[in-house]
Amino acid sequence: MQRFSFARTATDGKARTGVISTPRGDIRTPAFMPVGTAATVKAMMPASVRETGADILLGNTYHLMLRPTAERIDRLGGLHKFMNWERPILTDSGGFQVMSLAALRKLTERGVTFKSHIDGSKHEITPERSMEIQKLLGSDIVMCFDECPALPADRKTISDSMQLSMRWAARSRDAFGDRPGYALFGIQQGGLEEDLRAQSAAALQDIGFDGYAVGGLAVGEGQAAMFRVLDFAPDQLPQDKPRYLMGVGKPDDIVGAVARGIDMMDCVLPSRSGRTGQAFTRHGVVNIKNARHADDPRPLDAACRCPACRDYSRAYLHHVFRSQEIISSMLMTWHNLTYYQDLMSAMRAAIAQGTFADWQDAFHAAREEGDI
Ligand code: GUN
Ligand code: ZN
Repeated sequence: MQRFSFARTATDGKARTGVISTPRGDIRTPAFMPVGTAATVKAMMPASVRETGADILLGNTYHLMLRPTAERIDRLGGLHKFMNWERPILTDSGGFQVMSLAALRKLTERGVTFKSHIDGSKHEITPERSMEIQKLLGSDIVMCFDECPALPADRKTISDSMQLSMRWAARSRDAFGDRPGYALFGIQQGGLEEDLRAQSAAALQDIGFDGYAVGGLAVGEGQAAMFRVLDFAPDQLPQDKPRYLMGVGKPDDIVGAVARGIDMMDCVLPSRSGRTGQAFTRHGVVNIKNARHADDPRPLDAACRCPACRDYSRAYLHHVFRSQEIISSMLMTWHNLTYYQDLMSAMRAAIAQGTFADWQDAFHAAREEGDI
């Protein structure tokens, strides 16, 4: 059987390109994972998500355990079959979503109890339960159960929280066991502090994981602070394992993260902002609801291969957005996911060719050109 493995094929500065191999298919890195929280990438058919170039999707323990429940998905043959996506799926472990979505959260050494944001019912997630849920879902890449403190927080709070996450990481590792073909990723915490991040990285490597995530970023600290952490955090993690930056980000965040040695990312931004009428293009963000598009026969982005750009005008996209037609979400999401995947593909090619610095200059220069 194909085991989980990661091979770097080229590096350029700190940037890396390579392939993660899994029994459900290869993941080309740097990889962007579209978010399919509730067993769907909203407004997209799975075959269309694949056409954008995605090799892997992200799913959420928290949402799926509440509805339709992990046990039901297991009875129905697992998440891949349930949502008709045969390729790899990574699932987040639940703690981060509990902290941002659930009511009456209570954190103890054992885990977290909370009330569902859907119906107020009471639930508990522990590291052991999170591993069980992610196994029932059939997730290919399982994330450790962790805690991510809201920033800003004082150093003691961040340190205590990081140490709790490291104890939970050890319990996650024990509960996950040995499952050939499946991967378990540790999650580094430690806020913006280099020494706490180093302690966390060392604790995770003592336990031993198939990949390592940088957690606790993109929680309101801003891009400059995030990049300062990414100047040291990836170097604290193993060279030969995938590094995953959780919940990032805007196109320029992603480019900056790849330049600093990140291999995987996920974010709701391309899908969510598609539904609110924002399109990402080489030249920046286009707000399709703006009246200046009402008579514009040109495509959203003449260089884009997606159906929204190939088959429709800005005037049409403006009209269906204003009319709140369902096709607006479909086309705008398709465009944004295509933009993100083509961005990843261009970075992989530039790293392989050793031209990533020049490519980055061109990426930033194109965004300075006005008139979009
Ligand atoms: N998503 C974004 N940041 C985080 C994090 O720190 N931990 C987890 N589990 N998920 C995240
Ligand atoms: Zn397009």
